Amino acid sequence: MGEINRPKVNYRLVNEADFPIIMDMYTQLNSFFYEVGYRLPRPENVGQVWLDTFRRTLGRFSNVYIAEIDQKVVGFMLCRVKRVPAYMGGVLVGELSDMWIAEEARRLGIGDKLSRLALDWLRQQGVHSVEIQVLRDNDASWKLYDRMGFKLEFRVGRLLWDEYIEEKPA
Ligand SMILES: CC(C)(COP(=O)(O)OP(=O)(O)OC[C@H]1O[C@@H](n2cnc3c(N)ncnc32)[C@H](O)[C@@H]1OP(=O)(O)O)[C@@H](O)C(=O)NCCC(=O)NCCS
Repeated sequence: MGEINRPKVNYRLVNEADFPIIMDMYTQLNSFFYEVGYRLPRPENVGQVWLDTFRRTLGRFSNVYIAEIDQKVVGFMLCRVKRVPAYMGGVLVGELSDMWIAEEARRLGIGDKLSRLALDWLRQQGVHSVEIQVLRDNDASWKLYDRMGFKLEFRVGRLLWDEYIEEKPA
């Protein structure tokens, strides 16, 4: 889309009035996870449970950036700061934790901009590096982060009991 047709997007930090909409967006994101490789159980009331994991640390160990068009929220990015254990260097590490862009607002550069706002804040917190986790089949998300310079470091596997092979194959 040419620059000239792009709607004006406003970026800002979250406030309490946004909580219902970001909980709803996280619920949509959580449903999407199962389409791209997620195999954990589906919790009840997932938006509220998710919000409760960071709402009291906002501005200190976490932040949510909001994108809006015509005063309507069209996306968010949650980032967090954590300290890795001493045996892993004991450093502060940032995490781009969750992002959702409403379907009608995709491919406008909003995901890219929200990620960069989060990276700027994490850098100001003095983190050693920034992590992301991307589900196996989420190619769009991986492409976005790959362009920013993220390099693949971990592979995470999960064994469900009905897949467990008890004897070594002959
Ligand atoms: C992934 C997601 C956040 C991208 O948001 P977005 O605002 O559309 O992304 P941007 O417009 O900033 O795209 C930046 C670049 O990422 C890549 N990209 C984004 N979406 C893509 C897609 N569907 N297919 C291929 N590449 C894609 C492109 O390189 C793109 O640049 P370009 O448009 O100039 O080609 C959005 O598609 C989304 O909300 N998806 C569902 C939830 C999700 O995957 N969240 C992230 C994991 S928690």
